[in-house]
Amino acid sequence: MIDPITAWHGEHARFTQLLDFLEKQVAAFHAGEHPNYELMRDVIYYLRHFADRFHHPREDAAFTRLAERDPGMRYPINRLLQEHRVIAVAGEELLKHLDDILEDAVIARETVETAAATYLTYYRHHLAKEEAEVLPRAAQVLTQRDWTAVAAAVPAGSDPLFGDDAGARYRELRKQIMLEARAA
Ligand SMILES: [Fe+2]
Ligand SMILES: [Fe+2]
Repeated sequence: MIDPITAWHGEHARFTQLLDFLEKQVAAFHAGEHPNYELMRDVIYYLRHFADRFHHPREDAAFTRLAERDPGMRYPINRLLQEHRVIAVAGEELLKHLDDILEDAVIARETVETAAATYLTYYRHHLAKEEAEVLPRAAQVLTQRDWTAVAAAVPAGSDPLFGDDAGARYRELRKQIMLEARAA
């Protein structure tokens, strides 16, 4: 079985790929080109339905244990826990803007682009903080028992985009992400 820290890094790397993709779409808008709103929507939908439902709740459980074992981590961890809630709300809002665009509702494209740019900055900062401060400390401090409790608290959901049994819903996004990864 893959160890929890490696799995944790892996999920962050995949979220980063999605944020990179989203950022390219935002850049295309700024260059006067047409971003792919459907795929932007798929990115946010996935982050709402996979990251916010499985990754963040699992982190919530791991972070709580980490703060118990290392009280010095309480302050940064409280911030990260709060950020999970902000990311969920910001994602929901962005999703709604993208839905509006796709349904031809009257909404300034700038509103969507600004919301996407804010989401990107916030999410990237969050991931960087976890990678730099939390994962290394968790690797040192959390025990096998902790990890078992974390896994039991939030069972891993199957990943509909990057997982082995990924479904048809994200076929186009998966193709684009693979193409970009190959080009990089
Ligand atoms: Fe997080
Ligand atoms: Fe995370």
